[in-house]
Amino acid sequence: MEIDSWHRKSLLGLEELSADEIGCILKQASVFKREISSPDEQSRYLKGKRIVNLFLEPSTRTRIAFEIAAKSLCADVISISGKSSSLTKGETLKDTAMNIKALGADAIVVRHSSAGSPLFLSKTIDVPIINAGDGAHEHPSQALLDIFTLQENLGSVAGKKITILGDILFSRVARSNLWGLTKLGAEVTLAGPSTLVPKQFEGMGARVSHDLRDSLADADAVMLLRIQHERQSSSHFPSLAEYTTMFGLNMARSQWLKPDTLILHPGPINRGVEIDSELADSPRAVILDQVKNGIAVRMAILYLCATTEND
Ligand code: CP
Repeated sequence: MEIDSWHRKSLLGLEELSADEIGCILKQASVFKREISSPDEQSRYLKGKRIVNLFLEPSTRTRIAFEIAAKSLCADVISISGKSSSLTKGETLKDTAMNIKALGADAIVVRHSSAGSPLFLSKTIDVPIINAGDGAHEHPSQALLDIFTLQENLGSVAGKKITILGDILFSRVARSNLWGLTKLGAEVTLAGPSTLVPKQFEGMGARVSHDLRDSLADADAVMLLRIQHERQSSSHFPSLAEYTTMFGLNMARSQWLKPDTLILHPGPINRGVEIDSELADSPRAVILDQVKNGIAVRMAILYLCATTEND
């Protein structure tokens, strides 16, 4: 699909995108990655546009990368958090978004604890809405940068075996990666304790494994996920120590991997829980490459969505 054929003003999730649309974003991200590595080149595609980052949950990587991405495209960027907004005074999300539009926003990047908030906003106001993570539903920009990083290292992901290990049940990263990777032809295994990796995920095209060694054996890449305590109202395993004993990845267990298997993690890492420090900092880990690629991928998302006239 050519860039000119892109027609979406909002990016709500990877479930709704075709393989061609995912490929279009990743192709444009490659162009921007080349441009930002050359200091003489500056993209002015969003000159005069206002991008508002509305982050109603904590974030380090996503928020900073969206800010850098927008500034790299010469947009004006305004970032607000839940605590510094009038949401704390009882204003609704709808009123907040309508006021942000009235102030001249050309796109809103939103992170919210409730699944479906970006979809609601996209139906409420006529401004591009970019989902920066909604509850346990989707985190499309994260999955796109994960797939971009996988493609840089593995070439096409079609036919590649990707294991996502950890708290799948509460993970928007896992869901977006599952949609994106399977659409591009990868074979995805979701692994972890049965309480966090229910068999229902097989209905989304994944293989489910509750056996750590089995899930690692022939993987081309393993993506670790932290335990998302903030979304769990009850305990899904006896203790963190027991989780680490059963499913934590460490240098000894990395012997179960093929020698060139990549290690990914969307962050934040809980060192010593889902992954030990030595492995997180080892040459096979591409965790900080993922973070860096987040800038070019988010430039592509903002450029494509914020310059689309009608969808
Ligand atoms: N991966 C991710 O979403 O990180 P942040 O919460 O720091 O944005």
